[in-house]
Amino acid sequence: MIIDMKNISKSYDNVEVIKNLNLRIEDREFTTLLGPSGCGKTTILRMIAGLETPSSGEICFDDTCVYSDEKKINIPPEKRNIGFVFQDFALWPHLTVFENVAFGLRARRDKKNLEKRVMDVLDAVRLSEFRDRYPSQLSGGQQQRVGFARASVTRPDCILFDEPLSALDAILRDEMRMEIKRLTSDLGVTAVFVTHDQMEAMSMSDRIVVLNKGAVEQQGKPEEIYQKPATVFTAKFIGKSNWLEKNEMFRPETASLVKKEGCKEYHTIVDGVQFMGENYQLYLNAGGKQWMIESPCRYDIGASVSVYINEDNIVTF
Ligand SMILES: Nc1ncnc2c1ncn2[C@@H]1O[C@H](COP(=O)(O)OP(=O)(O)OP(=O)(O)O)[C@@H](O)[C@H]1O
Ligand SMILES: [Mg+2]
Repeated sequence: MIIDMKNISKSYDNVEVIKNLNLRIEDREFTTLLGPSGCGKTTILRMIAGLETPSSGEICFDDTCVYSDEKKINIPPEKRNIGFVFQDFALWPHLTVFENVAFGLRARRDKKNLEKRVMDVLDAVRLSEFRDRYPSQLSGGQQQRVGFARASVTRPDCILFDEPLSALDAILRDEMRMEIKRLTSDLGVTAVFVTHDQMEAMSMSDRIVVLNKGAVEQQGKPEEIYQKPATVFTAKFIGKSNWLEKNEMFRPETASLVKKEGCKEYHTIVDGVQFMGENYQLYLNAGGKQWMIESPCRYDIGASVSVYINEDNIVTF
């Protein structure tokens, strides 16, 4: 399903938090909304779901208009056929895993093959043996899988995820990234995923939409956003950036600590060193600017280091 938001604005108490947003989410793609806290990510998801009413503009699902201030259309959430996975899981504590997942079907009086449909999605998230447990008897990762099963059992056209992994520890988060990707692609649904974690966005998405203060800063494939940031904001928000001037930067991995043909040499002094396991991160003072470069070996603080940069790898704004 294609989601098309046209000229969407949203104000709370006369403060405009979404400003004339134009956003198109492609069918069956995994799109991530990425941006700092307070930039309006949750508000956008809630407007797509119908949980929040825009102040103006239009939202279409394929050829169907679900919201328009001009045409006075506002289809309620339960008729939009959308699944929602929340950051805090939001499971019913007094219902078992099975009943949490069955809840949406029962609420719609959609009881045909209910047992089989619930068990099929519990199988997909590898939780069928936990069907009679209560949420408090599950780990965070398992609870979030129930959250996903509940969102997908009604066969929605689109699943919205609001920072679903942020309550999980780092290892589990990695595992769940792969799993969410696999599950949404198996279901063939359109997915809109919200995060402020750039690694999560880059590793999972077909398309990233970078948001800044309620407006789209840049959108594109993860590689495009990382390698060709269009603005200083995007360059700083996604990935590590080293700055030559206010408007010139390079990514750490494009620089070399060994002399290279066609590269310009920059003299720096080691300010700090961090051991990262697979390598060291060197913090370098380059004429008053701080750079970070990865190195296979440790350097002493105060050591002189030459950094070689190819002009082609410098992004200018
Ligand atoms: N119900 C509300 N009433 C008033 N202001 C609100 C309300 N909901 C959100 N806001 C404001 O709208 C702006 C966007 O909020 P939103 O929750 O969409 O941000 P977010 O990008 O999801 O942030 P986070 O990463 O912290 O979750 C914020 O400035 C917030 O304070
Ligand atoms: Mg939010």
